Amino acid sequence: MSFRIQPQPPARPNRCQLFGPGSRPAIFEKMASSAADVINLDLEDSVSPGDKDSARANIIQAIGDIDWGRKTLSVRINGLDTPYWYRDVVDLLEQAGDQLDQIMIPKVGCAADIYAVDALVTAVEAAKGRGRKIAFEVIIESAAGIAHVEEIAAASPRLEAMSLGAADFAASMGMATTGIGGTQENYYMLHEGQKHWSDPWHWAQAAIVAACRTHGVLPVDGPFGDFSDDEGFRAQALRSATLGMVGKWAIHPKQVTLANEVFTPSEAAVAEAREILAAMEEAKAKGEGATVYKGRLVDIASIKQAEVIVRQSEMIAGGT
Ligand code: COA
Ligand code: MG
Repeated sequence: MSFRIQPQPPARPNRCQLFGPGSRPAIFEKMASSAADVINLDLEDSVSPGDKDSARANIIQAIGDIDWGRKTLSVRINGLDTPYWYRDVVDLLEQAGDQLDQIMIPKVGCAADIYAVDALVTAVEAAKGRGRKIAFEVIIESAAGIAHVEEIAAASPRLEAMSLGAADFAASMGMATTGIGGTQENYYMLHEGQKHWSDPWHWAQAAIVAACRTHGVLPVDGPFGDFSDDEGFRAQALRSATLGMVGKWAIHPKQVTLANEVFTPSEAAVAEAREILAAMEEAKAKGEGATVYKGRLVDIASIKQAEVIVRQSEMIAGGT
């Protein structure tokens, strides 16, 4: 229990974040015309070291030239353990136009990582007289990141979203897998000779959701590598949505539709939520704190659960 009111995360849709390498400008227009809520132009691991400078220039040019509409436009900078990141920040903040909304900081390990980027961003913004403050998003993808997830979520008022990066996370944790998200062949329980697969990403996702919800940050599921496996993507996304995440990355355009489907509350779910709210209004009018809806208990906590679904649906419909 706490007397503090839980802060709301930014009220903007974040159902799908579509990634594309900064070294492949031919796809930028396609990304802009996709149905993703967030576009992530990448300077980090999808760009080889020899292409970092040209990718940065491509991205700065495209931020000004392309109409990104109402999408959240984000650029993933290089990690703080590389020689590239300061140049990413300085060039973007000095040269990119106002359509740039956010920068994504990968491989964060502690709150001080965000503090360092914040200090640099704040200085360049002031020097350049940039009117709009740049927002941050981060990737939790290391043992240190998950160990310090709560202090990271609290690290800066600029922070709007936090994703789980399954591949780097697995590597950092020493997990015996090369899969990027999804079911892992060897992670099963045995019951009466039958294998039942469990979810090795579950605890990290739940830790991220808890840290994000405590500090008003959007929790997001990262990549699903096998883009030929629609059902696998859907299953992973449904689990993430059930745990409280608001969206998922797409590393191929075909994953955008899948993510949007899963993270848009269905008409049936919204209708049921509204019915629960109506049933509770009726109960309240009779001075009751609990009632029965379709044979099951609903009470004051059910109002809050139903409101999550209705609020999400209205926010998406409003396109804010
Ligand atoms: N965004 C928008 N459009 C994309 C796209 C993307 N990320 N990736 C591919 N496309 C386009 C292609 O240009 C092609 O368009 P066309 O039909 O007009 O020719 C169409 O979608 C089909 O592409 P396909 O041939 O299936 O894929 P590909 O071989 O061109 O590219 C990947 C596959 C995985 C290399 C590419 O999707 C990619 O680079 N993804 C993002 C990787 C990334 O950013 N990783 C970092 C985060 S984990
Ligand atoms: Mg990574």
